[in-house]
Amino acid sequence: MYDFDTPAPRAGSGAIKWDLRASVFGNGDALPFWVADSDYMSPPEVTEALRDAAARCVFGYTAPTEGYKRAVAGWIGSRHGWDVSPEQIVPSTGIVSELAAIVRCFTAPGDKVLIQTPVYDPFADVVKAAGRTLVENPLLCDGSLRYTMDFDDLERDLRSGVRMMILCSPHNPVGRVWTQAEVRRVAELCAAWGTILVSDEIHWDILMPGHPHFTAGLAGTPENVIVLTAPSKTFNLAGLRCSNDIIPDPALRRRLTEWKQARRLESPNSLGLIACEAAYTHGAGWCDAQNAYLAGNAALVRERLAAGLPAARTAPLEGTYLMWLDASFTGLGSLELCRRLNAAGAILNDGKRYGAEGFLRLNIACPRAQLDRGLSAVVGCLRGAAE
Ligand SMILES: Cc1ncc(COP(=O)(O)O)c(C=O)c1O
Repeated sequence: MYDFDTPAPRAGSGAIKWDLRASVFGNGDALPFWVADSDYMSPPEVTEALRDAAARCVFGYTAPTEGYKRAVAGWIGSRHGWDVSPEQIVPSTGIVSELAAIVRCFTAPGDKVLIQTPVYDPFADVVKAAGRTLVENPLLCDGSLRYTMDFDDLERDLRSGVRMMILCSPHNPVGRVWTQAEVRRVAELCAAWGTILVSDEIHWDILMPGHPHFTAGLAGTPENVIVLTAPSKTFNLAGLRCSNDIIPDPALRRRLTEWKQARRLESPNSLGLIACEAAYTHGAGWCDAQNAYLAGNAALVRERLAAGLPAARTAPLEGTYLMWLDASFTGLGSLELCRRLNAAGAILNDGKRYGAEGFLRLNIACPRAQLDRGLSAVVGCLRGAAE
């Protein structure tokens, strides 16, 4: 019923993923599998709501309405089983800028902030830019490239006085959807050692079969948990700058709200609010259809690699639309791999930026035919690199 096979007209629209190919990678014709957004169109229900808003011809200052908050709470209740009240929802203009605000609001210069590497690189950037001390709790990885948390190391770190932990859940780039037991353990350890847990759950709707997401908001320690959510990955709305922090604890919530107000940090733009409300009200069917389509894309990647490049391993994809590929069999570093891939016609992210040399990240949120063409370039290039 929904169409994910028709490419969205992105080239020439200002889309970073498409229009910065030549300036950043030196090949304006290569197929892009880097920036984490999607190359098919957003749900028709969202586009319709935006069209209606445009027809009203008014774009003034706008605050989140009660209907907006009801839609956000409704989605979280029905999709994630978490009963959130409207006042616990703090709208924001994007997860990374909000994370930068949260780090500065709740920690002091020099305080320790912990991340689990390899991980989405802006986590380290916002911590370092704020002059806080970055602590890494590297993930463990088994022979099938499935990652798990090193809880002994985590507890040692937390015991040493970590002020904040940033959890990536589901995890970009290793594709894990943390189990209920894992999330509960993280939350318990943070509560025990007085660490604020900031759980970035931007990918929480993008789930492969058999991998339900468990939000840190349900982990039983709401007084030290902030959950960051957004409709942007799920419905391809990143350009509309609309996200939502869920902060159950009134004291934490007041502190952040006052901190943001004092710095004149504004609420999301009016069209972002409209798109978010429409997506969370009408988007469940589209979201399920997209997950099924992405599972098919992930299967295609596995098939093509097994047939053409058996030495390459991919981490089992449990959630997100980002596949994590171990190309260390080539003996080349990530940057050199990307340079060769760009020339061969496919732009992937280099794993080094997330902390894993010899790895690559492949965004599969695109029409299957585009992915298939890109995979031909990847397989041919990496085969040549390994020879
Ligand atoms: C884990 C994670 N957090 C945040 C973001 C970016 O969010 P925003 O565009 O709202 O800053 C991404 C984008 O890829 C992501 O993967």
